[in-house]
Amino acid sequence: MFKMEGKVAVVTGGNSGIGLSIARSLARQNVKVAMVARRRKKLEEAKALLESEGGEAEIFTADITSEDDVRQMAEDVYRRFGRVDILINNAGLGIFKNVEELESREWKNVIDVILTGTFYCTRYLLPYIYENKSGHVINITSLWAKENCATCSAYTAAKHGQKGFTESVREEARKHNVKVTNIMPGTVDSPFFSKVKWNHDFSRALQPEDVAKLVIDVLQFPERAVVEDVVLQAIHPA
Ligand SMILES: NC(=O)c1ccc[n+]([C@@H]2O[C@H](COP(=O)([O-])OP(=O)(O)OC[C@H]3O[C@@H](n4cnc5c(N)ncnc54)[C@H](OP(=O)(O)O)[C@@H]3O)[C@@H](O)[C@H]2O)c1
Repeated sequence: MFKMEGKVAVVTGGNSGIGLSIARSLARQNVKVAMVARRRKKLEEAKALLESEGGEAEIFTADITSEDDVRQMAEDVYRRFGRVDILINNAGLGIFKNVEELESREWKNVIDVILTGTFYCTRYLLPYIYENKSGHVINITSLWAKENCATCSAYTAAKHGQKGFTESVREEARKHNVKVTNIMPGTVDSPFFSKVKWNHDFSRALQPEDVAKLVIDVLQFPERAVVEDVVLQAIHPA
């Protein structure tokens, strides 16, 4: 089993929703957590929360759509902790509109954060993980990485792309004994929906801690086994 104690994890979007829940669960396993996002104040609150629960955490302010920010963040994480073992590509956003109403800046924003941001973080952090000849990259994609819905064109394009990217990198990482997992959650009750109009009965939705539990379970599989793709759905989806 992958020994988690003392390992170092980078969680993008670690200051909110699913990412924050994953960061807290990792810290409870004595993993040192590097939380990456843009909003400094929310990062500071998240760090204080993890530390109040006995965890070790550091914050790194970066916009993952900026290659310079991500390159600097990766160097700073490595300088601070001396190693990287786990990367959770979780940061994301959704813009949901009919395609004829979607502005090109909105399209670009969704693709840049979800797809290009995942590329940059993987590009600059994976070489550090490879140094250990063991480790794990977990990408939080979405049920919309394999299914489709009306008003989701930018989001599904980004998430389908992120899934394809994940599968290709998995084949490269095997040679380094590094695992790559794609987690596809259905609707999760998180601040994601404070920014978008989405008609949904959230009383039936998944909670961020459900995804966090799955991340810990996936990390704890025997060394010989990699969980490749997982769909996590509510028992009674709305
Ligand atoms: N909620 C759902 O129903 C659901 C279902 C399936 C999959 N997902 C996926 O799960 C992931 C997390 O979503 P969530 O529900 O936890 O939403 P959330 O609470 O809104 O969190 C999104 C996170 O992404 C970060 N982020 C956004 N743009 C960024 C950028 N340019 N650079 C760095 N960080 C950025 C945000 O931090 P800052 O704003 O501070 O940068 C925030 O921490 C997303 O990839 C989402 O697509 C969500």
